[in-house]
Amino acid sequence: MSADGNSADGGAASAAAAASTGAADPTAAPRGTAHGKVILFGEHAVVYGVPALAVGIDRGAWAQVTNANANAKASVLHVRGWDVTVREDGGDEGPALGRAFRDVIAATRREQRAAGVPEIGDVHVEAEADLPPGGGLGCSAALGVAVARALDPSATAESIAARVDAWERVFHGNPSGIDAAVAAMGGCVQFTRGDGEARATIERVRVSEAIHLCIGHSGQASSTKSMVESVARIRERRPETTQKTFDAIHTLVKNARLAIVDHDLRAIGQLLDLNQMLLSGLFLSTPEIEQMCATARTAGALGAKLTGAGGGGCVVALVGDAARSTEVLAAWKAEGYEGFAATVKPEVHDVREILQKLHERVTRATAGSP
Ligand code: MEV
Repeated sequence: MSADGNSADGGAASAAAAASTGAADPTAAPRGTAHGKVILFGEHAVVYGVPALAVGIDRGAWAQVTNANANAKASVLHVRGWDVTVREDGGDEGPALGRAFRDVIAATRREQRAAGVPEIGDVHVEAEADLPPGGGLGCSAALGVAVARALDPSATAESIAARVDAWERVFHGNPSGIDAAVAAMGGCVQFTRGDGEARATIERVRVSEAIHLCIGHSGQASSTKSMVESVARIRERRPETTQKTFDAIHTLVKNARLAIVDHDLRAIGQLLDLNQMLLSGLFLSTPEIEQMCATARTAGALGAKLTGAGGGGCVVALVGDAARSTEVLAAWKAEGYEGFAATVKPEVHDVREILQKLHERVTRATAGSP
């Protein structure tokens, strides 16, 4: 397993064989995996060139290629759990997932052509995501990255993230690219959007000690596309005040990066709260998000904010240790909000953790336990 998160080839053959019989074991080294992401600082402002800080979590997506559809005359993607199947040749009027799949295949073939290596033919891709769609945790990007990796396991993380750009555009209109970058790289990264021809800048941020997070779902799905459009409208109406908000977020991101490197949890927590205030000023918060942030702080979190697009989706709360996570999650649960704990470790998450967790959840679901 490489630091890029590409699966080693060993075991892929058995995974592919299992998938072709419809009994794939997600722990059996499928060929593409990806992380879900949590944006700690800088969502929305990142669309306008402000750097953002995000971490990959040990939940995500996996995909594997089989040649089970030799007669299908087009590539096919099946997403388990959602039980959705789409074809590459569904056309412009077809489902968004089909268009995204078509675009990532086209990007893969383009790069393979440019590199002078044989292009992929028609394939059957089995995929699964372990993230709530519309939850702000980068579900679509994780699925896209897992599929892109399954299509071309030898590509670098940067190249995979670039190929998934087209996939993300189908769903989100004008994405910054941060979700795909973190899905492909994991760990803690600072991401700055590319400008024109210039590619995005992605820097790894050193995490010296484990950082404990609680992630809770507000119960409302949100659309990244419509929230990004809503901020664009606010910016059009009030360019100066919106720019001031982005400038404030920029300052906050710079300080947050230092605080993360120094493992200054109190400072990170305060900055999370400040970022939440600024996002609320852009009308991205909801009463549920505010309630969850307040509940988390009362239960001992050092800071909390919405993460991702807002308008619903998830809240991230920083806690001092794993025991405090239990308290925050219990406090959310008492108010009807589901959540889970995530740890940002100094080393990049081994993507096998994603598969193991996914496997455990599938096994629990099959056994009918909660
Ligand atoms: C969505 O996860 C993050 C946003 O900043 C949009 C983007 O960066 O593409 C809201």
